[in-house]
Amino acid sequence: GKVAVLMGGTSSEREVSLMSGAGVLAALQSRGIDAHKFDPAEKPLSALKDEGFDRVFIILHGPFGEDGTVQGALEVLGMPYTGCGVMASAIGMDKLRTKLVWQALGLPIPAFELVNANSDFAAIEKKLGLPLFVKPATEGSSVGVVKVKEAGGLKAAFEEAVKYDPLVLAETFMGGGEYTTAILDGETLPAVKIEPATEFYDYDAKYFRDDTKYLCPCGLSAEKEAQIAADVKKAFWGIGGKSWARVDFLMDDAGNHFLLEVNTAPGMTSHSLFPMAARAKGMSYEDLVVRILDTTLA
Ligand code: DAL
Ligand code: MG
Repeated sequence: GKVAVLMGGTSSEREVSLMSGAGVLAALQSRGIDAHKFDPAEKPLSALKDEGFDRVFIILHGPFGEDGTVQGALEVLGMPYTGCGVMASAIGMDKLRTKLVWQALGLPIPAFELVNANSDFAAIEKKLGLPLFVKPATEGSSVGVVKVKEAGGLKAAFEEAVKYDPLVLAETFMGGGEYTTAILDGETLPAVKIEPATEFYDYDAKYFRDDTKYLCPCGLSAEKEAQIAADVKKAFWGIGGKSWARVDFLMDDAGNHFLLEVNTAPGMTSHSLFPMAARAKGMSYEDLVVRILDTTLA
């Protein structure tokens, strides 16, 4: 049948999605699949039916693509799609609701506080300690994320983050390294460790710089990695996830892990983490893309 690769969209991660989508489209076509680009910013999703598509590969990142809205429209159209359903996508796009679910399950997450214009900024800095991260609740690719290293920096960081979402979180930072675990069809892939050359793994480090280091195997003990994989599965189950996703986490200096967030339409660019994890398991980019597409048949 005919496959639509949903890419682009209207979020601040549009350019990332176009890069991911170009890779996915080429991979599907290289395997003889009749795949075509479809950008919901250019035409309504109802055109999927008119154009004779049978299935959809969603590689939209951010709101209106990764947040359950597009998924809901596809449910109404009766069109099978890759990735999480409406609920898991909606929860996963919202870092606050994700944390609330994980907290209720007893999963380890960094200490956090909601921040608004009337917050006692100094008290939050004191409570969470420095450095801390300030994030809009519903963005991806580190858009609007600010690292606060010095006392008194939270207010300006809040003012930056709130441009992207009225809901802003401040979160304790742990310096034991940043990692990610990919999950595909119920199974985790080997964790990847990220070592940015810059202050943190921001938008540039993610997609454009070539000095970010990626380690897979990640250097954690097999025992620790198994423990983290179990938590990642529980975290994914908690939001009601299926098909594929990537869970990012931090380590502290004592070797404890803390889950940060889940990406329900993970990046598939040449610099992205999910394809690296797959490669470590002997799965090529093309194999991976076909495996993800196959989850629409389940
Ligand atoms: N939000 C980006 C695409 C990622 O997590 O890979
Ligand atoms: Mg994200």
